[in-house]
Amino acid sequence: MPDVLSVRDLRAGYAGTTVLDGVDFHLPAGAVVALLGRNGVGKSTFVHAVMGMLRPSSGSIRVDGRELAGAAAHTVARSGVAIVPQGRRVFAPLTVEENLRIATPGSRRTGRARRTGSSPGAWTPERVYELMPRLAERRTHRGDQLSGGEQQMLAIGRALLRNPRLLLLDEPSDGLAPTVVDLIAEVLEGLRGEGIAAVLVEQDLHLAFRLADEVAVMRKGRIVHRSSTAEFRGDRERAHGLLGVG
Ligand SMILES: Nc1ncnc2c1ncn2[C@@H]1O[C@H](COP(=O)(O)OP(=O)(O)OP(=O)(O)O)[C@@H](O)[C@H]1O
Ligand SMILES: [Mg+2]
Repeated sequence: MPDVLSVRDLRAGYAGTTVLDGVDFHLPAGAVVALLGRNGVGKSTFVHAVMGMLRPSSGSIRVDGRELAGAAAHTVARSGVAIVPQGRRVFAPLTVEENLRIATPGSRRTGRARRTGSSPGAWTPERVYELMPRLAERRTHRGDQLSGGEQQMLAIGRALLRNPRLLLLDEPSDGLAPTVVDLIAEVLEGLRGEGIAAVLVEQDLHLAFRLADEVAVMRKGRIVHRSSTAEFRGDRERAHGLLGVG
């Protein structure tokens, strides 16, 4: 499989501090790779840099072979990348329906829908409701009236409406009860077969192991381990050593 995402020697940080210190990372088309690591190692910084929300100081970010390091977020989005940010960030005063409508490409162009929004197989709010019936039931509820799990579903739905080839999921289980994490897992499993590749940043190892084909571990702004999920699970001691838990 050719790589949908290929990152080489990526460096980025904030006001004089280096967070990403030479990240190498690749993601085969259609694959799910879990990005694990302790709090503060740079996982969110990495997905922000890939999404064009943070300008890297050096290095290469290729999406489908196209160099995007330093490109603006809307350019990265147009290249088929979408993010489900940590903490979800749905628009609180808008309803579920409105949140989904404004995320739909071409929604602001009345009369002439853009091709991307109307091509066969494209995501529509209706398809999002089919994938997540709970959102259909909450259609008229405002963002701030939703439970954490429903907000996470809405954030996922909003990202899907961009018709991504590459989805950046930043801790989708964050702050959710185990039964709700299970619902989110089912939603993400439902996406297998859609050909969407994903970087899954996770602290919940059960969720990561359930969804990911491969595991990458970040430490001090670098990737220090990469293997199949099965191999990583099979060596508990090494996994614990890498993640600094247990
Ligand atoms: N906007 C910012 N300005 C300055 N420093 C930041 C900013 N965002 C993150 N940092 C710092 O960069 C480092 C990496 O943060 P980042 O959010 O990427 O970590 P993370 O691996 O996603 O952590 P977590 O698991 O807690 O979400 C931390 O030391 C953090 O304090
Ligand atoms: Mg984070």
